[in-house]
Amino acid sequence: MCGIVGYIGHREAYPIILKGLKRLEYRGYDSAGIALYDGENIKLSKTKGKVDDLEKRINSEISTVGTLGIGHTRWATHGVPNDINSHPHYSNSGDLVIIHNGIIENYGTLKKELINRGYSFTSETDTEVLINLIEDIKKSENIKLGQAVQIALTQVVGAYAIAVFDKNKPNEIVVARLGSPLAIGIGDDEFFIASDASPFIEYTNNAIYLEDEEMAIVRRGKEIKVRKIKDDSLVNPYVQKLQLNLEQIEKGGYEHFMLKEIYEQPNAIKDTYRGRLLTDKAIIKMSGVEDNMKKFLNANRIIVVACGTSWHAGLVSEYIFENLARIPVEVEYASEFRYRNPVINENDIVIAISQSGETADTLAAIKLAKSKGAFVFGVCNVVGSSIARETHAGAYTHAGPEIGVASTKAFTTQITVLSLIALRLARAKGTISSSDFRHHLIELEMIPDKVEKALKSDDYVKSIAEIYKGTKNFLYLGRGYNFPVALEGALKLKEISYIHAEGYPAAEMKHGPIALIDENMPIVVIATKNGQYDKVVSNIQEIKSRKGKIIGIVTKGDQIVKELADHVIEVPETLESLSPLLTTIPLQLLSYHIAVMLDRNVDQPRNLAKSVTVE
Ligand code: F6R
Repeated sequence: MCGIVGYIGHREAYPIILKGLKRLEYRGYDSAGIALYDGENIKLSKTKGKVDDLEKRINSEISTVGTLGIGHTRWATHGVPNDINSHPHYSNSGDLVIIHNGIIENYGTLKKELINRGYSFTSETDTEVLINLIEDIKKSENIKLGQAVQIALTQVVGAYAIAVFDKNKPNEIVVARLGSPLAIGIGDDEFFIASDASPFIEYTNNAIYLEDEEMAIVRRGKEIKVRKIKDDSLVNPYVQKLQLNLEQIEKGGYEHFMLKEIYEQPNAIKDTYRGRLLTDKAIIKMSGVEDNMKKFLNANRIIVVACGTSWHAGLVSEYIFENLARIPVEVEYASEFRYRNPVINENDIVIAISQSGETADTLAAIKLAKSKGAFVFGVCNVVGSSIARETHAGAYTHAGPEIGVASTKAFTTQITVLSLIALRLARAKGTISSSDFRHHLIELEMIPDKVEKALKSDDYVKSIAEIYKGTKNFLYLGRGYNFPVALEGALKLKEISYIHAEGYPAAEMKHGPIALIDENMPIVVIATKNGQYDKVVSNIQEIKSRKGKIIGIVTKGDQIVKELADHVIEVPETLESLSPLLTTIPLQLLSYHIAVMLDRNVDQPRNLAKSVTVE
């Protein structure tokens, strides 16, 4: 987690870095800081709190003049969020300054050695250890900063994306990565450094993404040099043309990114299936699947690895793959999978799902699966992300940047991609008839319009939010394809409103959670027509007898649940396998409105960060 930004060139660095930090705040937001070189010295200002807090105090602390600078927005790992632990960090001499995203696992040992050599530390961070290690190597070996960084990184165990500069060499920034992302934007005689491309997209669309164990020295007005940290070999970096545009990363009139992203879903889903879903020809085209069709057809089973919302999308896919393509599926939390000794063999396909493509546990699960010979297929949103690169093949979701910490459009586009894959495999395996296949394609193509219709319930959902905003607990129930949606609805509410919520398979309610139900308990029940509707209606009866408050998510025109429930929110009818794409919409809106009414920080809920790059 943490966001890093740097600039070296001919413009004033401060406004670029400040704006960049605001765009990267989704990565962490418990403290922020900036270091600038003003022509003579390093000026540094940092604070606990958000980038806005930094902005408020920076002008009274330092001059913000300078064409070289680095900035950081933090998600604390080592050391509580406070001013001192915030980045950037100086070396003991005050000559060097660093920003770091990641964790140095052996910092304790390194720190002891440095203390024995006379170094002192003001913060509790691993980062301050790293910058002093660099300084120690630089001084004792009398070498340049780049070389010192390189040697220091060979002594470090952990993960990092770093940017370092030396006030005595104010024409260069040294950057390096292992396990945390780092992009370098290439402008005209200027360079931008950032955790992703959003801080520099209005200046350049040429970028290099450093690979793991690579470092680069970016020099004002010179060519960039990228090399391997371990063997010092020069790398010819691939300069990528970015597709991102500024509107995609701005709020565009919405109060929050989350709301914007909820409303973007019709287009995001369209973008996901564009060029892949060819309804008139009755085909699905996905190069990642086509190129590896033999592997998919020979697969004994699919193991899905993911975390959080992506794991919920994986659970939905379990129903889809098993039903349509008749391939057994196991869905695993990446964090558990990686520390077991899972039985994996060559005929297993591992599908890793991740919006950010940077989630540390998912990345580690992929590496483990690869080491055991499995073929690993990625479903990622962020193009060029670590997971996209680490997997053997994959399919992007093309949802566009998701900035709100709570995942919304990532979830629905992941389900869209997974549905396309399952349908393609079902067709190839002959487990679906051609008429059924065509029917699925037609229905999938209509989903964006139906999502649009589901969004029309917004005002009504808001009025329900008003009634229940003061509630301490919520229960979410669903069955079949909509059981994972119940889990996802509960997760959305928890993470942005801080209200406790549980998701459960509706039939499991009577094995425990039913004891929680009384007249104060709102229960969101997904009861769409084509699922196990009658069974869910029975579950609703059971809730009603215990006086629970029922919020039903039903298919348009439903009468039975309407009679029983306190409120019903209608979604358009579709195939049951596609219904999660619609039923999830009112749940996203419900959590959003409750969180806004409770005055929560919707886009940046407490303690969370968008990409979880630590395990
Ligand atoms: C919840 C949420 C998280 C992420 C999880 C995995 O709204 O956003 O639970 O889904 O951290 O992140 P990715 O998909 O980036 O691997």
